[in-house]
Amino acid sequence: MQLKEQIQEVLAQINDLKAQNEKELEDLRIKYLSKKGIVVSLMNEFRNVSADQKRELGIALNKLKTEAQNKINQLRESMQNSNISVDADLDLTRTAYPIPLGTRHPISLVRNEIIDIFTRLGFSLADGPEVEDDLHVFTKMNFAADHPARDMQDTFFIENSPNDIAKNVILRSHTSSVQARVMEHQQPPIRVICPGRVYRNETITARAHCFFHQVEGLYVDKNVSFADLKQVLLLFAQEMFGKDTKIRLRPSYFPFTEPSAEMDISCHICGGKGCSFCKNTGWVEILGCGMVDPGVLELCGIDSKKYSGYAFGLGIERITNLKYMVKDLRLFSENDERFLDEFVSAN
Ligand code: DAH
Repeated sequence: MQLKEQIQEVLAQINDLKAQNEKELEDLRIKYLSKKGIVVSLMNEFRNVSADQKRELGIALNKLKTEAQNKINQLRESMQNSNISVDADLDLTRTAYPIPLGTRHPISLVRNEIIDIFTRLGFSLADGPEVEDDLHVFTKMNFAADHPARDMQDTFFIENSPNDIAKNVILRSHTSSVQARVMEHQQPPIRVICPGRVYRNETITARAHCFFHQVEGLYVDKNVSFADLKQVLLLFAQEMFGKDTKIRLRPSYFPFTEPSAEMDISCHICGGKGCSFCKNTGWVEILGCGMVDPGVLELCGIDSKKYSGYAFGLGIERITNLKYMVKDLRLFSENDERFLDEFVSAN
């Protein structure tokens, strides 16, 4: 091949040169520009060029050398620039990228608030199983053998069990079962709250769900009176709903308390004047309570002549609905971020 064509071919190669890293670039430099490199060896050929071609090929060879040098320099520069741009991104003084954080569920927020109020009043936390037996949910809580709550219609039973014992295994329908668990293992003074999930065989609607949350309270000691119960519940209501909140107790019935009552608070929307929220009564119901039935104390191994106690049970969803005006219970278990994000500021 003539020198002229060789120069053109090398020129074309040089135009297309690429290097991924310093090593590749150095190899290219050696290949084209070192003493034994392609460009220099073509220049050595210049000696043999006939006189009439010297001018043309001399210019072409010089051009080739400059082009080769330029190309190598240009590759080096762009490699350095790309390193610089990585460094430029690395700004150690910058605040960290915001990491999207989850928020506490409204039920957890309210549960924690309830726990906080009662622990300040001297209550400690107690826990019991959600899969419970009939003994703790019903029998020790003084439910009659034919009480309707023991019916499949109201309570979830663990089915298809091969033995008789398991026939009595159920999903607890209230946290009162934890009262029995605590009293079995501890003598008075007892002052506990038991937050937890409960299950009932209900059709799911805006106003009822097959699972929800309760907080049970139990205080057993010498000389515990209804006045003690009332005072503690008043303090709770005022801490939860504001200092001006009033309470009202209405006689009621529960198998495990005697006497029993249901407690209302003055409507915190209208301040007791009457509005659509409280159906113009000025009051909204929030919990059940009463003096622990002496029969329950005895069934749980506590001397009812020596000790008395009070108990109460409240629904966390109910309190949350009142506090945050949530109208549909299903929102609590649908994990809809639009709903959950409403509570960001409360976290
Ligand atoms: N266990 C009751 C329920 O689920 C709530 C309750 C009422 C608990 C009165 C109590 C109580 O401890 O004294 O509806």
